[in-house]
Amino acid sequence: MKHLEAGNNLLLGVTGGIAAYKSVELARLFIKAGVNVRVVMTEAATRFVNPITFQAITGETVRVDLFDQAHEAAMGHIELARWADHLLIAPATGDFLARMAHGLADDLLSTLYLACPAQVSVAPAMNVHMWEHDATRRNVSRLIEQGVQVLGPALGEQACGDTGPGRMLEAAEIVSSLMYSSEAGLFAGRKVVVTAGPTREAVDPVRFISNRSSGKMGFALAEAFAAEGAEVVLVSGPVNRDDPPGIQRIDVISAQQMYEAVFKHLPGADVFAACAAVADYRPANPQPQKLKKNGEHLELKLVKNPDILAEVAALSDGPFTLGFAAETQKLVENARSKLTSKGIDMIAANLVGKGRGFDLEDNALKVLWSDGEADLPMQSKKNLARALISLVAEQYVRE
Ligand code: CTP
Repeated sequence: MKHLEAGNNLLLGVTGGIAAYKSVELARLFIKAGVNVRVVMTEAATRFVNPITFQAITGETVRVDLFDQAHEAAMGHIELARWADHLLIAPATGDFLARMAHGLADDLLSTLYLACPAQVSVAPAMNVHMWEHDATRRNVSRLIEQGVQVLGPALGEQACGDTGPGRMLEAAEIVSSLMYSSEAGLFAGRKVVVTAGPTREAVDPVRFISNRSSGKMGFALAEAFAAEGAEVVLVSGPVNRDDPPGIQRIDVISAQQMYEAVFKHLPGADVFAACAAVADYRPANPQPQKLKKNGEHLELKLVKNPDILAEVAALSDGPFTLGFAAETQKLVENARSKLTSKGIDMIAANLVGKGRGFDLEDNALKVLWSDGEADLPMQSKKNLARALISLVAEQYVRE
């Protein structure tokens, strides 16, 4: 995610919740950091904070009404959407998230969301039961699919007396995640272990069994976690890729070595993301010398490799587990059964074969967890990795 910098233009959308008062401080902090801020409020937001307050802080008129002719003449809403380098909606109420998820555009702010080509972030704020309601869960998953960055909410006591996730992040936390995200990203202070690439299973000193995994997705995932502030250990099979910056990379060859490296680095991990295409079987008796041609047939006996992901998932106080499934048919059915049989928290499934999957720039994923799912449409593996870790963050907080 590109950081917001001094001199950039931020459109701050404020919707109608009690947390709207925190947005006054938010606007002040962004201005202090050198960001140009313009505020757009929903009608409901003006019941909580008077637009004059934002006007005084930003020195700009505050917009509320889509049909306000004087303001539209000065800067039309499409122009305003183009002006923005970033659209941040804070607080974002349950209702507003729903309207964004469904593409409604019946007021100025929701219209701006549709019209704005820049990165969009939301800082949700609502009662814990509203946040946990299935309808909101689906809307948030949909927003992530639409490329929206979800900041928070925080855990804690709420204005209504309930306790749980739902409070808007503090203004300073929002500013630092948009401006300096590696210090306070979604995974700040968390440790993540990622596996990537293929494994090679030796037949003899010069031959091996392997697969076509390029490691692209696993590396993109490791980078996305690191960009969100995680300490990342990347255990990689043999791939031709540069070291991602700021990540501890451990190179391994075989499934057995990958298994050992993962368990060595697992203590203290909060998330385990198994992106490697681990060979399910290895030759039972790898030969110390090169095999010689001998006769018309050669039988190779294979034995099963340990299932790294399933073993991590079976740990009693293990990390949140994310697995991958590459399927050639019955995508959802097969992936859901893998989710249950391996006892993992989330699975990202994709169709492979016929020009899809391995070693390509783009991919699409169907992501499943115990009580939900999301479709991440065809996009670069980098963007896909970002969207996927937002889903992980969201489900991880719920655990
Ligand atoms: N995995 C693992 N260790 C293994 C095998 C797989 O950690 N020995 C992980 C992969 O990294 C991936 C997921 O498990 O996250 C894939 O599951 P798997 O059962 O290997 O999928 P397939 O090999 O496609 O299984 P099947 O052939 O049974 O469909």
